[in-house]
Amino acid sequence: MSTAYSLSNDLLNELAPHGIWRMSRAVEGVVRDSIGNLPRGSVSNDERRYPTTGEGMRAFLNAFFARHFVQVQHTLLASVAPPDLLSLAATGQISIADVGSGPSVAAIAVIDLVAHIRRILLERSHSVEKRPLAVSIVLNDPSRICLDTGEQIVIGYCRALSGQVKVLRITKVSEAFPWALSRIRQGASGGCRYDFSCLSYVLYPLLEQFSLGAIAEAARALAALCNLERGEP
Ligand SMILES: C[S@@+](CC[C@H](N)C(=O)[O-])C[C@H]1O[C@@H](n2cnc3c(N)ncnc32)[C@H](O)[C@@H]1O
Repeated sequence: MSTAYSLSNDLLNELAPHGIWRMSRAVEGVVRDSIGNLPRGSVSNDERRYPTTGEGMRAFLNAFFARHFVQVQHTLLASVAPPDLLSLAATGQISIADVGSGPSVAAIAVIDLVAHIRRILLERSHSVEKRPLAVSIVLNDPSRICLDTGEQIVIGYCRALSGQVKVLRITKVSEAFPWALSRIRQGASGGCRYDFSCLSYVLYPLLEQFSLGAIAEAARALAALCNLERGEP
């Protein structure tokens, strides 16, 4: 059995035991802490989907975080070839552009997936250096509460996995996409490209602002900032 094939089996057993996708304990804990620190209050459906207040963020985390998180992980496993995921995890560093990030849902899903793979590789004593996975992230969202909560969630997650994941940089871009593209381009570290760019659950709000053609063009420009050789969701 090839390493990549048996790795995806082990990974699936961890991420979706008995076929049920769920968040890892570290992610669950950090999301629970965030919910506990946010104010309660009734909010409209729009505010729950696109939070701009503490109350809205609390409602979003309760209603959508887990669902969107597992969908991103599921999509990544279904669309990125296992050998690409393996070699990416082995490099020990990843950079992510999360557009329409909300509270860093897709970015955390990617980091958590790669951290799982590194752990499995280490357990099998493959040639992976025992140093933390280094992550650089650009979060793009016009909502301040999304950017701030997203940053706290990433930092809290890295703290919870002490020593396994380390944040090199989090850049928060509050300009709306696609105007944010030039800031996102600058955020690609030292001329390197992103390993992953994500547009998770952001098509509907974008369609309220732009034509499908304009969004497709912007998505192509975003993809051009990615290191396609390493795999792009
Ligand atoms: C439904 S949430 C999805 C959040 C997250 N990506 C997820 O998968 O759960 C949509 C997010 O897109 C953001 N958004 C709306 N228009 C945007 C734009 N033009 N550029 C960037 N983000 C935008 C909203 O503020 C909101 O946080």
